[in-house]
Amino acid sequence: MTKALVIKDMKLYSKAASIIADLSDLGFEQGSPLDFNEVCKIDQLHYHGVASVQLAIDALTIEKNANVLEIGAGWGGPSRFIAGKTNAQVTAIELQKDFNEVAEILTVRCGLDTLVTHRQIDFLQADFQDLKFDHIVSWLALFHIPKREFFTKKIHELLSPGGTIFIEDLMQGSAYKCADVQLLNKELFANSLVDENNYLQGLRAAGFEIISAENMTADWFTFTSERLNFFLKTHKKFTKLHGEKAFQDKRHFYSKMVEFFSDSSISGIRVIAKKLD
Ligand SMILES: C[S@@+](CC[C@H](N)C(=O)[O-])C[C@H]1O[C@@H](n2cnc3c(N)ncnc32)[C@H](O)[C@@H]1O
Repeated sequence: MTKALVIKDMKLYSKAASIIADLSDLGFEQGSPLDFNEVCKIDQLHYHGVASVQLAIDALTIEKNANVLEIGAGWGGPSRFIAGKTNAQVTAIELQKDFNEVAEILTVRCGLDTLVTHRQIDFLQADFQDLKFDHIVSWLALFHIPKREFFTKKIHELLSPGGTIFIEDLMQGSAYKCADVQLLNKELFANSLVDENNYLQGLRAAGFEIISAENMTADWFTFTSERLNFFLKTHKKFTKLHGEKAFQDKRHFYSKMVEFFSDSSISGIRVIAKKLD
């Protein structure tokens, strides 16, 4: 029997509190007020940081008072950036208790808690009652969530008429069939990797019009390779702050990402789409 996947097997997620230590190291003492413009330099768990979040704000035209949902919010980085830049109301859904707790602390320290609401829950289980969203956004989270057809429909139902989505996600790569899928799924906590055709077809079938779909594979291969090279150079400083085990965990994860992109086990996509009524 195949063993059930556990999210903490993915070594990127070992210790949510590490960001608090990083902030202290940067001179922001525990509990002190923060500016989201500073925190956003280290709280984004996807590629190209807030440049990608700004793309979403611009592409979807997220405005003041808009109702936005972020699925898989991690430390809450994208949600805080959207709220801070636009004054939109953002609901940030996060599965992991420790990440959600740290996200809430950072949001309060940034003075954004009237705009960003954090909820620790599995998106599959989350009940929003009659709440509808103008925009739904998600960075590198949907591939973690099982039942792609079900959650794609749920995203569609949660949108107001004409609502829009911005998604960055991992997919199967062109050599996925040659990969050790069990290992890949464990390393990435991957529960719903599909190929690009199925990805886009699934969105259309749920009732979305694709505005744009960009294959990000080459870009993300370069990004993850550079990230690994840079990280290896930080060994001394990183271990002083977080210890050798945390360094090895992160090195392992960053190396695996480079490996999976380079052998085409995985690929990446950025999709902007609109709900058809
Ligand atoms: C790679 S992180 C990205 C975090 C954030 N979007 C960012 O870019 O900074 C993906 C996040 O999705 C969360 N996640 C995974 N499955 C989820 C689920 N079923 N419901 C809600 N969040 C989930 C993970 O716990 C993780 O924090």
